[in-house]
Amino acid sequence: MFGETYLRLAALVSILIASAHGYIVKDGNCSLVSAGIPVVTNFDLQKYLGRWYEIERYEQDFLRDLECVTVEYKDNVENATIELKTKGYSTEKEAYASFTGTARVYDPLGKPPGGKLIVNYGIKSSNESNYWIVDTDYTRFSIVYTCMQIDGSESVIEGYWMLSRTPELTEELQITEKLEFLKNTYFIPSHVRSTNQTESLCRKEPEKQPVPAALILPPLP
Ligand SMILES: *[C@@H]1O[C@H](CO)[C@@H](O)[C@H](O)[C@H]1NC(C)=O
Ligand SMILES: *[C@@H]1O[C@H](CO)[C@@H](O)[C@H](O)[C@H]1NC(C)=O
Ligand SMILES: *[C@@H]1O[C@H](CO)[C@@H](O)[C@H](O)[C@H]1NC(C)=O
Ligand SMILES: *[C@@H]1O[C@H](CO)[C@@H](O)[C@H](O)[C@H]1NC(C)=O
Repeated sequence: MFGETYLRLAALVSILIASAHGYIVKDGNCSLVSAGIPVVTNFDLQKYLGRWYEIERYEQDFLRDLECVTVEYKDNVENATIELKTKGYSTEKEAYASFTGTARVYDPLGKPPGGKLIVNYGIKSSNESNYWIVDTDYTRFSIVYTCMQIDGSESVIEGYWMLSRTPELTEELQITEKLEFLKNTYFIPSHVRSTNQTESLCRKEPEKQPVPAALILPPLP
């Protein structure tokens, strides 16, 4: 009996994953939290602010099929929150979509803040650190793990992000090797989706046709 239930659940989960192109829905808890995934220590929020380009991700419902994804972290000094603005280009709709969220650093008393944020997009608000910065050098790369419980269920949605300060990730071997290691050790590479950041695709607006300047020929000799 138990075996059969388990198999059905496993089948259901694999259908969910398969039908959703790498959208990771899992039974149980945020597994990497208990698996001891590393998190940045002595996190420096000020250095982390600004724009990041998404290089890779696990697919997420709200980002489905979007390319050219960027995320901008902005400090709201007045209320001590961080504003997150995610933007992505839908090739199908030929338009950008954007999403705004807020975040704050998870800051348990008596401990220096690590790279754990509490991020809230939309109406569902969370109290828990659901956004972990696994590693970053602030100036080139960041690797992020997220995990959120699905309301009223025993399932979670996990996220993986590889972010870069530039549309193309640095090719510095020391960094790319480290990122490959983290990805292969803690994430599921076969579920990772690459983001197209090609300039011709990601331009904000279709380039206006330049108005041809009047052609003035020098007078014939
Ligand atoms: C999830 O975590 C809770 C609290 O730690 C625990 O009671 C529960 O058994 C866990 N569930 C699974 C499926 O691992
Ligand atoms: C914080 O302040 C900013 C800018 O004034 C505002 O847009 C945002 O909604 C505020 N966030 C919260 C959680 O109050
Ligand atoms: C956050 O935690 C506090 C204290 O544990 C609790 O009172 C509050 O309801 C929680 N809020 C949410 C949105 O879970
Ligand atoms: C990215 O988009 C450009 C422009 O549409 C396209 O030419 C290119 O093949 C795409 N790259 C990948 C890896 O899909």
